Amino acid sequence: MTAGPVVELAGVSKTYGDVRALRDADLVIHRGELLAVVGPSGSGKSTMLNIMGTLDRPSTGTVRIDGHDVARLTDRELSALRAQAIGFVFQQFHLAPGVPALDSVSDGLLYSGRSRAERRRLAERALRRVGLGHRLHHQPHQLSGGEKQRVAIARAVLGDPPLLLADEPTGALDSRSGAVVLDLLHELHRAGTTVVVITHDRDIAAALPREVRIKDGGIEYDTARGRPDGTPATAVLEEATR
Ligand SMILES: Nc1ncnc2c1ncn2[C@@H]1O[C@H](COP(=O)(O)OP(=O)(O)OP(=O)(O)O)[C@@H](O)[C@H]1O
Ligand SMILES: [Mg+2]
Repeated sequence: MTAGPVVELAGVSKTYGDVRALRDADLVIHRGELLAVVGPSGSGKSTMLNIMGTLDRPSTGTVRIDGHDVARLTDRELSALRAQAIGFVFQQFHLAPGVPALDSVSDGLLYSGRSRAERRRLAERALRRVGLGHRLHHQPHQLSGGEKQRVAIARAVLGDPPLLLADEPTGALDSRSGAVVLDLLHELHRAGTTVVVITHDRDIAAALPREVRIKDGGIEYDTARGRPDGTPATAVLEEATR
């Protein structure tokens, strides 16, 4: 990773047919930030996350990840950047049925050139890190929702990506399991990961150091540009990267 911002969106728009899912979005995310992207259903949050995660390309505008203009990368370079720099967590966990936690996580390293024993050792370490050392051999149907999400997080952070993108990570969870998952994201942030949490829950968003609000595809408010109470942008940023 280089010195500049982890994510830079400049004038990014995305249209699907006649739907303008994202309009002219400018966003800079610095290394070590923890922020929420918040907005109602259909406001463009997942669209933005998919573009930040290089899973989708913008219709117009520039996307830089770790300083790389993604439009200038070949598919192969883009896959490499994504594999090395970005971890994803989704609302519905995306765990294959019947596959034990340890395998779900270690399969994330299948193409890393590591031996099976080494992949399993790292996977076990990641599962211990999320507090699931006692559930290594459980299959998804034997895990609670919160545990499933922690397996998904273990898989996402296995290769220690500097950027973690979480799309409604607590959306399918009750408030207690949701709180455990949020604590875990805070912990990863303290350990140095840049964490972006997408949520429609304004309370969750307000509890994070930086909040970016989206409405109808546009960024309507970003605490990094200062808070309405007069807190200057620099103070917000300092808090967000603490
Ligand atoms: N592949 C697609 N084709 C057409 N329209 C799409 C597509 N993906 C998203 N949209 C539209 O773009 C808008 C933004 O969608 P997006 O999924 O980004 O919303 P969201 O903020 O993540 O909503 P939610 O909170 O419900 O997940 C919506 O109006 C949606 O219908
Ligand atoms: Mg969404």
